[in-house]
Parts: sequence; C-alpha cells; structure tokens
Amino acid sequence: MKRLVLLLSVMLVACSNDNAPDVSSEKAAAEALQALQHSTAADGKALYAACAACHGAEGEGNAALNAPSLVNQQDWYLERQLLGFRSGLRGNDPKDGYGAQMQVIAKTLPDDNAVKAVVGHIASFKAKPAAKTLEGNVKRGADYYSNLCGACHGPAAEGNEKLQAPALAGVEDWYLLKQFNHFRDGLRGADESDRYGYQMGMMGKTLPDDEIAKDVIAYIQSLAD
Ligand code: HEC
Ligand code: HEC
Repeated sequence: MKRLVLLLSVMLVACSNDNAPDVSSEKAAAEALQALQHSTAADGKALYAACAACHGAEGEGNAALNAPSLVNQQDWYLERQLLGFRSGLRGNDPKDGYGAQMQVIAKTLPDDNAVKAVVGHIASFKAKPAAKTLEGNVKRGADYYSNLCGACHGPAAEGNEKLQAPALAGVEDWYLLKQFNHFRDGLRGADESDRYGYQMGMMGKTLPDDEIAKDVIAYIQSLAD
C-alpha cells in the first residue's frame, strides 16, 4: 500500500509539469467553449471573441496562459493547425495538456468555414514581434540554423508556404522552444499521417542538446529585430 501511494505521488509529480493547464487557463477554456456553443460559422470577429481571453484582444498572445501570439504567423499555417487540432492530428498526446486544451476548443468551432472566418479575422490584426525572454549563443545558433533549419523555414525564418514550414521569426521564443521539444520528444508530429508534423518531428532530433536548441531559438529571435 505504501509503495502504491509513493508510486501515485511520483506519477502526480510527473504529470504536474508545464504541460498541464492550470486553474486560470482551465477557466478561460470553459468560458471559450461556452461562447462557441452559440457561435455561427460566418462571423470571424464574433468567433474570435472566444479566442481573445487566451490569445489576446489583438492576437498578441498571453504567456501566463501558455497561449502564443497568432499575429506573427501566416494565415495558411494558422488554418492548417486549427484543422489539425480538429481532426486530432495535433493535441492528442496525454502529456500535451495545452495541446489537448486547444484541440477541444478547435473542435467546438461550428465547421471548417468557421476556421476560415476566424483566421480571416486574425489576419486583419497587425503583426507584433514578441519580446525576447531567452538568452543564447546567437552566433552558434546561426550556424545550426543555416545548416539545419533555413532550407525549410527560410533564411530570415520568414516561413515557406510551398514546404508548409511556418514563419518562426517574431513568434515567442518560449513557445518555439516548447514546440521544438515537443517535436523532439514525440508529443507533436509522432503520427506518420501528420505529414508536416512528422517531417518536423524528425528535424526535432537533429540538434545535439538543449543548449544548442536555445542558441538556435535565440538566433531566430534576433531575426525579428
Ligand atoms: C483557454 C485558452 C485558449 C483559448 C480560449 C484559445 N486558445 Fe488557441 N491555443 C492555446 C494554447 C495554450 C495553445 C498552444 C498549444 C500547444 O502548446 O500546443 C494554442 C494554440 C493555438 C494555435 C496554434 C499556433 C501555433 O503557432 O502553433 C492556433 C492556430 C490557435 N491556438 C487558435 C485559436 C483560435 C482561433 C481560438 C478561438 C476559436 C483559440 N485558439 C482559443 C490556448 C487557447
Ligand atoms: C524539412 C523541412 C523542415 C526543416 C529542415 C525544419 N523544419 Fe521546423 N517545421 C517544418 C514544418 C513543415 C513545420 C510545421 C509542422 C506542423 O504542421 O505541425 C515546422 C514547425 C516548426 C516549429 C513549430 C512552430 C509553431 O509555431 O508551431 C518549430 C519551433 C520549428 N519547426 C523549428 C525548427 C528548427 C529549430 C529547425 C532546425 C533544427 C527546423 N524547424 C527545421 C519543417 C521543417
């Protein structure tokens, strides 16, 4: 019995990592779901009201809720991610609590037209590069970036629609690092039917260690200046 209790508490500690949504984000999610129950597909502005609590009134993101900015991403990428959440390609891993939270919200959008409408509204906001929060060896990051990442994400990390590789410059550094680690650890992109996520999943294994991953992200951030 004692050992069982110990085992359970170890498991609880293992679960209470940065991937488990806290009380305030659970509350915001519940409110968004309620708002979306009454939404119609056509009105992007009205739909976005359910997103603003987490992603900000102007799509600027909210670090306290682990929600990235949406204004530094291209519309085709936002749309594809929302469809990925809806079809269950993204946000399915039990260790990916925030991905799961976003999956439920995306699935509550009335239909795929609603996805288009809300992304259309987000595209009307102004891009606003996120503030830096990470330090790293930018020069070393630049070398790794140009050898391993630039071919898809572009020399200025501006993204490449043909390859479906999103812009990275300007997106929050903590979010990029977290998503990179999720690809590396198989929390995102592990499923082969997730064509683009799977591709990036393989790339997640190419950086030798955490320090170098930070260097690369710090370099990407320097490109947004
Ligand atoms: C309860 C907070 C919350 C609400 C409400 C919410 N989101 Fe999110 N959203 C998140 C979080 C947290 C993530 C990051 C998920 C992860 O870590 O994989 C996210 C991720 C996303 C992404 C992926 C961005 C990327 O670059 O990977 C898109 C697109 C998105 N949300 C759009 C929306 C839209 C549109 C709405 C409104 C219909 C919405 N979200 C409502 C919390 C929220
Ligand atoms: C073969 C092309 C390719 C290469 C090379 C590549 N990526 Fe990606 N990356 C992608 C694609 C495609 C996606 C979108 C995945 C998806 O749809 O889930 C992506 C997504 C990402 C994301 C998530 C962004 C977000 O907002 O959700 C990060 C972070 C990232 N890549 C970092 C890197 C880094 C760092 C490198 C170099 C070590 C790299 N990528 C190399 C194709 C590539």
